[in-house]
Amino acid sequence: MTDETFDPRARTREIAAEFIERGDALGWFEALYKEAAGDTGQIPWADLEPNRFLVAWADSVNLRGNGRTALVVGCGLGDDAKFLFERGFKVTAFDISETAIAWAKKINAGTDIEFHTADLFAPPPEWKNAFEFVLEVYTIQPLPIEMREQVIDAIAGFVKDEGELLVVTRGREDSDETPEFPWPLSRKDLSCFEHHGLKQISFTEMDAEGEEAPVPRFVVKYEKKKN
Ligand SMILES: C[S@@+](CC[C@H](N)C(=O)[O-])C[C@H]1O[C@@H](n2cnc3c(N)ncnc32)[C@H](O)[C@@H]1O
Repeated sequence: MTDETFDPRARTREIAAEFIERGDALGWFEALYKEAAGDTGQIPWADLEPNRFLVAWADSVNLRGNGRTALVVGCGLGDDAKFLFERGFKVTAFDISETAIAWAKKINAGTDIEFHTADLFAPPPEWKNAFEFVLEVYTIQPLPIEMREQVIDAIAGFVKDEGELLVVTRGREDSDETPEFPWPLSRKDLSCFEHHGLKQISFTEMDAEGEEAPVPRFVVKYEKKKN
């Protein structure tokens, strides 16, 4: 049970800052999941529900997998992976945190989702250009802005020729150069996906109604042209 005075966002910022100051931008995720010890109340993004902006977009286009392969990047506890599985995709999902993956496997034991512990910067080679649908929700934004192009390169590399990529992210204006952690993406940041043969097919901006300090969300779909 989480103490009522405990602020998971403040604690997350504290752990992240500690690691980032030491030059380790990736280590804090495992530390946070480990410290939470199975209590979802300590993980700010873990609500055991699929992302509501993803669901709204999927409903608007009547998303169906029809057996297509999907890869979920930085899947955390696997709620979005489960959502795609229920929509008929053959889902692989990964996260850098082994604690998150063990937790996700337990929660989603009744599904055929393949969960893996993996770093998006050093993925299994067979994932290169391999997936018909790639889903990225909130993995880019908590990684330092200096790494943004590198993260985008890595994610774009998973998409098969003629496959699709869907990005759900907090958004900011291009002119806002001093965003706060977790650093939202601008349209200019997103345009880096187009350096990889990906063509933007749709761009939807959604209001984050009901949040204490609402930040708009961008839901962006790309398709990869054949080389
Ligand atoms: C803000 S959380 C979002 C989790 C999930 N996508 C969601 O929306 O609930 C970012 C996730 O990305 C994972 N992550 C961060 N860096 C990663 C990397 N290099 N490779 C794979 N996963 C990573 C973290 O462990 C964390 O679970």
